[in-house]
Amino acid sequence: MKYRAVKGTRDLLPPESERFAAAEGIAREVFSSYGYGEVRTPVLEATELFARSVGETTDIVHKEMYTFPDRKGRSLTMRPENTAGVVRALIEKGLQDMPRPIRLWYCGEQFRYEQPQKGRYREFRQIGAELLGIPGPEADAELLLMLFDFLRRLGFADLSVTLNCVPSRDGRQRFAEAVRAHVSPQADRLGTDDRRRLEENPLRLFDSKDAQTRGILEGAPTSPEFLDDSARAHYERLKQLLSIMKIPFTENPSLVRGLDYYTVTVFEVVSRGLGAQDAVLGGGRYDNLIGDLGGPDMPAIGFAIGEDRLLDVAPADPRPLREVFFVVPFSKEQLAYALEVARRIRRHDPAAVVDTDLSGRGFKKGFARAAQVLEDSSGPYPFRVSEVRVISLGPEEEARGTLKIKALSTRVEESVNLSSFERGPGR
Ligand code: HAM
Repeated sequence: MKYRAVKGTRDLLPPESERFAAAEGIAREVFSSYGYGEVRTPVLEATELFARSVGETTDIVHKEMYTFPDRKGRSLTMRPENTAGVVRALIEKGLQDMPRPIRLWYCGEQFRYEQPQKGRYREFRQIGAELLGIPGPEADAELLLMLFDFLRRLGFADLSVTLNCVPSRDGRQRFAEAVRAHVSPQADRLGTDDRRRLEENPLRLFDSKDAQTRGILEGAPTSPEFLDDSARAHYERLKQLLSIMKIPFTENPSLVRGLDYYTVTVFEVVSRGLGAQDAVLGGGRYDNLIGDLGGPDMPAIGFAIGEDRLLDVAPADPRPLREVFFVVPFSKEQLAYALEVARRIRRHDPAAVVDTDLSGRGFKKGFARAAQVLEDSSGPYPFRVSEVRVISLGPEEEARGTLKIKALSTRVEESVNLSSFERGPGR
C-alpha cells in the first residue's frame, strides 16, 4: 500500500460513520430542546488564541498543537479544542450586544499531537456545548442536566460526574504557590517535564501521568482550601441542585483539568471502559476567559465530549431501528423496472430506504445479500436494520404491475399492486 491514513487519524466508514452521525443527531435533539443552536467555527485559528486561552504552559499548547506558518508567515494552529474558537467568534460578532444567555453547541474535528493509543487520536471529534452570560450555579446545573439527558439517551445508566471547584485569580496564585512549596523539596525526583511544570505553572503538575509525581502530590494542598466565599457558596449550591435533580456526582478536590481557563466549577466524566486516566468528557466554568480575550466581562460554562471515546464505551449502537426495502430484479432485463419501483416507493414514503440490486445478479444472490444485511446490520444505513423487505421482480411481475414482497425475518410474503404505492407522504 502506497498511501495510508496519517498516524493518529482514522477513516470512518459506514456503519461506523453512521453511528457518529446518529450520536450527533441525538445531541442536536437534546441540546435543541434546551434552547441551544449549533455553532461552526473554522478548524484554523491564530496560534496566539490558544496560547492566551488554553495557556502557554499547558501540555496542549506546549507540545500538542499542529502549528505552522502560512504562506505569508502568519502562525496558524489546527484547533486542539473548540471553546476558544467559539468565544473568539462571539466577541468578533459583538457579544456585548447579544441577548443573554447565549446557548451554543458544536461538533467537529480537533487536533492534538499525542501518542496514539486506544481512545486517543491525533485527529478526534468532540461534541460540546457552551452557556454564556449566567453567573449562578443554576447555569451549571442546567448544563449538567442536559449532559446527563444526552448520556442517558445513549444508554449510559451508571455514569457519575467528578466535580471540583477551583479558585480564580488571587486564590489560584496562592494555590499554585502552596503546591510549589509542597513539591519543591522533592524537585530532584521529578522528570524533566514535571520540573518545567513546577517552574512555570505548578498547577499543571496535577496533569502529570508520572507515578512518582503523583505520589509526591499526595498530601499536597488542594484547591478547595483556596476558595473565596462566593466560589464556596456557588459550589455548595451546585451540589444541592445536583442532588435535587438526581445527577450522581463524586467530589475530587485534586481535579484541576488540563486547561488554564477554568474558574470555580470543573468536572469530568470517566468511564470504566477507558483507561484509568482517560475521561469521556470534561468541562467547567471559564468566567474570566471572555474578558481576557478582549470581550466584555461575562461568565460562562461548557463541556466537550470526546465523541470517539464516547462511542467506544457506549452501551448500545445509537442508531434507531428501522426497516429497509431491497429491490431485486430477476435479471438485467428487469433493471429499468426495478429503478421505477424503487422510485415509486420513495415517492410514496420519502423516509423509506430502498436499496436496489443494480448488478442484476438474480434472486439467489440478491436474497443472500439481503439476509446478510438483516443478520449483522452491515448496511451503510443511518439505522440498524429491524426488517428487510425483499421485493423480487421477475418478468411476470413486470407484465402484471405487481410486486412480490417478502419480509425476511417473519418470512411473510405478500403480493401487492405497484399502484398501491401512490404518490404522497405516508401510507
Ligand atoms: P478537554 O478535557 O481537553 O476539554 O477535552 C474534552 C474531551 O475530549 C476529553 O475528555 C476527551 O474525551 C476528548 N479528547 C481529548 N483529547 C483527545 C484525544 N487525543 N483523542 C480522543 N479524545 C480526546 C476541552 O477540550 C474543553 N474545550 C472543554 C470545555 C468546553 N470546557 C468548557 N467548555
